[in-house]
Amino acid sequence: MKNILAVYNGSFDFLDKIKISPLSRAYTFSDSVYEVIPFYNSKIIAFDEHIARLEKSCEALSFSIKILDISNEILELITKSKVQHGYIYYQVTRGIDNLRSHMFDKDISIETFGYAVEHIFKSQSLKVMLCEDLRWQRCDIKSTSLLGNIMSMNDAKNLGCDEVIMHKNKIITEGGASNIFFATDECVYTPHLSKNILPGITRELLIKDIKKAGIKVEEGIFSIDDLIEAKSIWLTSSTKGLAQVVEIKNQETNIQIDHELFVKCDKIFKDNYLT
Ligand code: PDD
Repeated sequence: MKNILAVYNGSFDFLDKIKISPLSRAYTFSDSVYEVIPFYNSKIIAFDEHIARLEKSCEALSFSIKILDISNEILELITKSKVQHGYIYYQVTRGIDNLRSHMFDKDISIETFGYAVEHIFKSQSLKVMLCEDLRWQRCDIKSTSLLGNIMSMNDAKNLGCDEVIMHKNKIITEGGASNIFFATDECVYTPHLSKNILPGITRELLIKDIKKAGIKVEEGIFSIDDLIEAKSIWLTSSTKGLAQVVEIKNQETNIQIDHELFVKCDKIFKDNYLT
Protein backbone atom coordinates (compact mmCIF):
# COMPACT_ATOMS: atom_id res chain seq x y z
CA MET A 1 0.00 0.00 0.00
CA LYS A 2 1.36 3.38 -1.03
CA ASN A 3 1.15 6.75 0.67
CA ILE A 4 0.00 5.64 4.08
CA LEU A 5 1.07 8.28 6.57
CA ALA A 6 2.93 6.93 9.56
CA VAL A 7 4.84 8.18 12.56
CA TYR A 8 7.84 6.50 14.17
CA ASN A 9 9.28 7.85 17.41
CA GLY A 10 7.67 11.23 16.71
CA SER A 11 8.84 11.60 13.07
CA PHE A 12 6.20 11.56 10.34
CA ASP A 13 6.87 9.78 7.05
CA PHE A 14 5.17 7.36 4.68
CA LEU A 15 4.81 3.83 6.01
CA ASP A 16 7.07 2.22 3.40
CA LYS A 17 9.90 4.61 4.36
CA ILE A 18 10.02 3.66 8.04
CA LYS A 19 12.91 1.49 9.19
CA ILE A 20 13.10 -0.27 12.53
CA SER A 21 15.88 -2.03 14.38
CA PRO A 22 15.81 -5.85 14.49
CA LEU A 23 16.58 -5.43 18.20
CA SER A 24 13.30 -3.65 18.81
CA ARG A 25 11.65 -5.71 21.56
CA ALA A 26 8.48 -5.66 19.44
CA TYR A 27 10.43 -7.70 16.90
CA THR A 28 12.21 -10.13 19.24
CA PHE A 29 9.68 -10.55 22.08
CA SER A 30 6.35 -8.92 21.13
CA ASP A 31 7.11 -6.71 24.13
CA SER A 32 4.61 -4.16 22.89
CA VAL A 33 1.01 -3.07 23.13
CA TYR A 34 -1.28 -1.43 20.61
CA GLU A 35 -4.56 0.27 19.84
CA VAL A 36 -6.81 0.37 16.81
CA ILE A 37 -8.75 3.65 16.91
CA PRO A 38 -11.51 4.15 14.34
CA PHE A 39 -12.71 7.44 12.91
CA TYR A 40 -15.70 8.12 10.69
CA ASN A 41 -16.33 11.39 8.83
CA SER A 42 -13.12 12.59 10.52
CA LYS A 43 -14.79 12.08 13.92
CA ILE A 44 -12.88 9.75 16.26
CA ILE A 45 -15.01 7.06 17.86
CA ALA A 46 -14.44 6.88 21.63
CA PHE A 47 -11.00 8.52 21.61
CA ASP A 48 -10.77 8.89 25.39
CA GLU A 49 -11.71 5.25 25.95
CA HIS A 50 -9.02 4.04 23.51
CA ILE A 51 -6.39 6.28 25.11
CA ALA A 52 -7.37 5.07 28.58
CA ARG A 53 -7.04 1.44 27.47
CA LEU A 54 -3.64 2.12 25.90
CA GLU A 55 -2.49 3.71 29.15
CA LYS A 56 -3.73 0.65 31.09
CA SER A 57 -1.93 -1.77 28.75
CA CYS A 58 1.28 0.25 29.19
CA GLU A 59 0.85 0.31 32.97
CA ALA A 60 0.37 -3.48 33.04
CA LEU A 61 3.81 -3.88 31.43
CA SER A 62 5.43 -0.99 33.38
CA PHE A 63 6.10 1.06 30.24
CA SER A 64 6.65 4.65 31.24
CA ILE A 65 4.87 6.78 28.67
CA LYS A 66 3.70 10.37 28.35
CA ILE A 67 0.08 9.68 27.46
CA LEU A 68 -0.65 13.33 26.57
CA ASP A 69 2.18 13.34 23.99
CA ILE A 70 0.88 10.06 22.54
CA SER A 71 -2.70 11.25 22.29
CA ASN A 72 -1.57 14.52 20.64
CA GLU A 73 0.54 12.53 18.18
CA ILE A 74 -2.43 10.31 17.27
CA LEU A 75 -4.62 13.39 16.70
CA GLU A 76 -1.89 14.95 14.52
CA LEU A 77 -1.59 11.71 12.53
CA ILE A 78 -5.32 11.70 11.76
CA THR A 79 -5.31 15.37 10.74
CA LYS A 80 -2.16 15.11 8.62
CA SER A 81 -3.33 11.91 6.89
CA LYS A 82 -6.44 13.68 5.53
CA VAL A 83 -8.21 10.30 5.69
CA GLN A 84 -11.94 10.73 6.32
CA HIS A 85 -13.07 7.20 7.24
CA GLY A 86 -10.42 4.92 8.65
CA TYR A 87 -8.48 3.87 11.67
CA ILE A 88 -5.19 4.47 13.41
CA TYR A 89 -2.94 1.56 14.31
CA TYR A 90 -0.69 2.71 17.15
CA GLN A 91 1.93 0.60 18.91
CA VAL A 92 4.06 1.25 21.97
CA THR A 93 7.14 -0.94 22.45
CA ARG A 94 9.34 -1.19 25.53
CA GLY A 95 12.32 -0.15 23.42
CA ILE A 96 15.37 -1.39 21.57
CA ASP A 97 17.84 -3.71 23.32
CA ASN A 98 21.63 -3.46 22.82
CA LEU A 99 21.53 -7.23 22.48
CA ARG A 100 18.49 -9.51 22.76
CA SER A 101 17.84 -10.21 26.41
CA HIS A 102 14.67 -11.40 28.16
CA MET A 103 15.47 -9.16 31.12
CA PHE A 104 15.40 -5.63 29.87
CA ASP A 105 17.62 -2.72 30.77
CA LYS A 106 15.56 -0.11 32.66
CA ASP A 107 17.25 2.70 30.69
CA ILE A 108 15.93 1.78 27.24
CA SER A 109 13.53 4.31 25.73
CA ILE A 110 9.98 3.61 24.67
CA GLU A 111 9.53 3.15 20.91
CA THR A 112 6.31 4.32 19.27
CA PHE A 113 4.87 3.64 15.85
CA GLY A 114 1.55 4.39 14.22
CA TYR A 115 -0.19 4.83 10.90
CA ALA A 116 -3.52 6.09 9.59
CA VAL A 117 -5.29 4.04 6.97
CA GLU A 118 -8.55 4.26 5.09
CA HIS A 119 -11.24 1.74 6.04
CA ILE A 120 -14.71 1.05 4.72
CA PHE A 121 -17.12 0.54 7.60
CA LYS A 122 -19.64 -1.84 6.06
CA SER A 123 -22.05 -4.46 7.39
CA GLN A 124 -20.42 -7.87 7.43
CA SER A 125 -21.94 -11.34 7.70
CA LEU A 126 -19.48 -13.82 9.14
CA LYS A 127 -18.94 -17.52 8.86
CA VAL A 128 -17.06 -18.61 11.95
CA MET A 129 -15.54 -21.66 13.57
CA LEU A 130 -15.61 -22.65 17.24
CA CYS A 131 -12.19 -23.40 18.64
CA GLU A 132 -10.40 -23.93 21.93
CA ASP A 133 -8.88 -20.68 23.24
CA LEU A 134 -5.10 -21.27 23.03
CA ARG A 135 -4.02 -17.97 24.55
CA TRP A 136 -2.23 -16.85 27.70
CA GLN A 137 -3.82 -15.70 30.96
CA ARG A 138 -3.67 -11.91 30.41
CA CYS A 139 -5.87 -11.41 27.37
CA ASP A 140 -7.12 -8.19 28.99
CA ILE A 141 -3.82 -6.52 27.96
CA LYS A 142 -3.92 -5.34 24.35
CA SER A 143 -0.57 -6.90 23.57
CA THR A 144 0.83 -7.55 20.10
CA SER A 145 1.54 -11.15 21.24
CA LEU A 146 -1.32 -12.64 19.26
CA LEU A 147 -0.04 -16.05 18.15
CA GLY A 148 -2.97 -17.96 19.68
CA ASN A 149 -5.42 -15.74 17.81
CA ILE A 150 -3.38 -15.94 14.61
CA MET A 151 -3.09 -19.74 14.62
CA SER A 152 -6.81 -20.23 15.20
CA MET A 153 -7.91 -17.53 12.75
CA ASN A 154 -5.74 -18.92 9.96
CA ASP A 155 -6.99 -22.47 10.58
CA ALA A 156 -10.48 -21.00 10.27
CA LYS A 157 -9.54 -19.11 7.09
CA ASN A 158 -8.34 -22.35 5.51
CA LEU A 159 -11.81 -23.79 6.18
CA GLY A 160 -13.51 -20.83 4.49
CA CYS A 161 -14.33 -18.92 7.69
CA ASP A 162 -13.96 -15.21 8.46
CA GLU A 163 -13.45 -15.38 12.24
CA VAL A 164 -13.42 -17.72 15.20
CA ILE A 165 -15.35 -17.96 18.43
CA MET A 166 -13.01 -19.15 21.15
CA HIS A 167 -13.89 -21.12 24.28
CA LYS A 168 -11.98 -22.35 27.33
CA ASN A 169 -13.38 -25.75 28.35
CA LYS A 170 -16.67 -24.91 26.58
CA ILE A 171 -16.96 -21.47 28.27
CA ILE A 172 -17.13 -18.79 25.57
CA THR A 173 -14.41 -16.13 25.70
CA GLU A 174 -14.34 -13.93 22.57
CA GLY A 175 -13.61 -13.78 18.85
CA GLY A 176 -10.10 -13.89 17.37
CA ALA A 177 -10.13 -10.12 16.91
CA SER A 178 -13.51 -9.21 18.39
CA ASN A 179 -15.87 -9.58 21.35
CA ILE A 180 -18.95 -11.78 21.20
CA PHE A 181 -22.62 -11.05 21.87
CA PHE A 182 -25.65 -13.27 21.43
CA ALA A 183 -29.35 -12.76 21.93
CA THR A 184 -32.61 -14.52 22.63
CA ASP A 185 -35.90 -12.75 21.83
CA GLU A 186 -35.76 -10.99 25.21
CA CYS A 187 -32.17 -10.30 26.15
CA VAL A 188 -28.65 -9.66 24.89
CA TYR A 189 -25.79 -11.60 26.51
CA THR A 190 -22.03 -11.17 26.49
CA PRO A 191 -19.17 -12.69 28.52
CA HIS A 192 -18.31 -10.57 31.55
CA LEU A 193 -14.95 -8.79 31.66
CA SER A 194 -12.08 -10.89 33.00
CA LYS A 195 -8.43 -11.58 32.28
CA ASN A 196 -9.64 -14.00 29.58
CA ILE A 197 -10.96 -11.32 27.22
CA LEU A 198 -10.04 -7.92 25.88
CA PRO A 199 -12.23 -5.13 27.28
CA GLY A 200 -13.42 -4.08 23.82
CA ILE A 201 -14.35 -0.45 23.34
CA THR A 202 -17.12 -1.35 20.86
CA ARG A 203 -18.43 -3.81 23.47
CA GLU A 204 -18.43 -1.06 26.12
CA LEU A 205 -20.18 1.49 23.87
CA LEU A 206 -22.78 -1.02 22.71
CA ILE A 207 -23.71 -2.21 26.21
CA LYS A 208 -24.12 1.39 27.40
CA ASP A 209 -26.14 2.50 24.38
CA ILE A 210 -28.52 -0.46 24.09
CA LYS A 211 -29.21 -0.39 27.85
CA LYS A 212 -30.10 3.28 27.45
CA ALA A 213 -32.54 2.26 24.69
CA GLY A 214 -34.25 -0.16 27.10
CA ILE A 215 -32.73 -3.41 25.82
CA LYS A 216 -31.93 -5.96 28.53
CA VAL A 217 -28.24 -6.92 28.69
CA GLU A 218 -26.66 -9.62 30.84
CA GLU A 219 -22.90 -9.97 31.31
CA GLY A 220 -21.92 -13.38 32.65
CA ILE A 221 -20.37 -16.78 32.08
CA PHE A 222 -21.80 -18.51 29.02
CA SER A 223 -21.17 -21.88 27.42
CA ILE A 224 -21.35 -23.34 23.94
CA ASP A 225 -24.80 -24.70 24.91
CA ASP A 226 -26.02 -21.11 25.48
CA LEU A 227 -24.76 -20.19 21.99
CA ILE A 228 -26.65 -23.11 20.48
CA GLU A 229 -29.89 -21.80 22.03
CA ALA A 230 -29.27 -18.23 20.76
CA LYS A 231 -31.43 -16.61 18.08
CA SER A 232 -28.60 -14.36 16.97
CA ILE A 233 -24.86 -14.09 17.51
CA TRP A 234 -22.65 -11.17 16.58
CA LEU A 235 -19.05 -10.04 16.98
CA THR A 236 -17.92 -6.50 17.74
CA SER A 237 -14.73 -4.56 17.07
CA SER A 238 -13.52 -1.10 16.15
CA THR A 239 -13.16 -2.06 12.48
CA LYS A 240 -16.17 -4.43 12.19
CA GLY A 241 -18.75 -2.55 14.28
CA LEU A 242 -21.41 -5.23 14.80
CA ALA A 243 -20.98 -8.19 12.42
CA GLN A 244 -23.62 -10.90 12.54
CA VAL A 245 -22.61 -14.54 12.55
CA VAL A 246 -24.55 -16.38 9.84
CA GLU A 247 -22.99 -19.80 10.29
CA ILE A 248 -20.81 -21.70 12.74
CA LYS A 249 -19.05 -24.23 10.50
CA ASN A 250 -18.46 -26.87 13.16
CA GLN A 251 -21.62 -26.40 15.25
CA GLU A 252 -25.37 -26.66 14.57
CA THR A 253 -27.19 -23.54 15.78
CA ASN A 254 -30.65 -21.96 15.92
CA ILE A 255 -29.57 -18.58 14.60
CA GLN A 256 -31.86 -16.49 12.43
CA ILE A 257 -30.36 -14.08 9.92
CA ASP A 258 -31.34 -10.47 10.70
CA HIS A 259 -32.92 -11.42 14.02
CA GLU A 260 -34.90 -8.48 15.45
CA LEU A 261 -32.66 -7.81 18.45
CA PHE A 262 -29.48 -7.86 16.36
CA VAL A 263 -31.00 -5.44 13.85
CA LYS A 264 -32.07 -3.09 16.68
CA CYS A 265 -28.62 -3.11 18.30
CA ASP A 266 -26.87 -2.63 14.94
CA LYS A 267 -29.08 0.36 14.14
CA ILE A 268 -28.40 1.97 17.53
CA PHE A 269 -24.63 1.59 16.99
CA LYS A 270 -24.70 2.89 13.40
CA ASP A 271 -26.93 5.85 14.32
CA ASN A 272 -24.59 6.81 17.16
CA TYR A 273 -21.18 6.38 15.52
CA LEU A 274 -21.35 5.75 11.79
CA THR A 275 -23.35 8.63 10.38
N1 PDD B 1 -9.00 -6.00 17.65
N2 PDD B 1 -10.95 -8.91 21.33
C1 PDD B 1 -9.82 -9.01 20.61
C2 PDD B 1 -8.94 -10.20 20.82
C3 PDD B 1 -9.47 -8.03 19.67
O1 PDD B 1 -8.33 -8.13 18.97
C4 PDD B 1 -10.35 -6.92 19.48
C5 PDD B 1 -10.05 -5.84 18.50
C6 PDD B 1 -11.53 -6.86 20.24
C7 PDD B 1 -12.51 -5.72 20.11
O2 PDD B 1 -12.00 -4.54 20.69
P1 PDD B 1 -12.44 -3.10 20.18
O3 PDD B 1 -13.93 -3.07 20.18
O4 PDD B 1 -11.86 -2.20 21.18
O5 PDD B 1 -11.87 -2.93 18.79
C8 PDD B 1 -11.79 -7.87 21.17
C9 PDD B 1 -8.53 -4.97 16.78
C10 PDD B 1 -9.59 -4.30 15.98
C11 PDD B 1 -7.35 -5.51 15.96
O6 PDD B 1 -6.54 -6.18 16.55
O7 PDD B 1 -7.24 -5.20 14.77
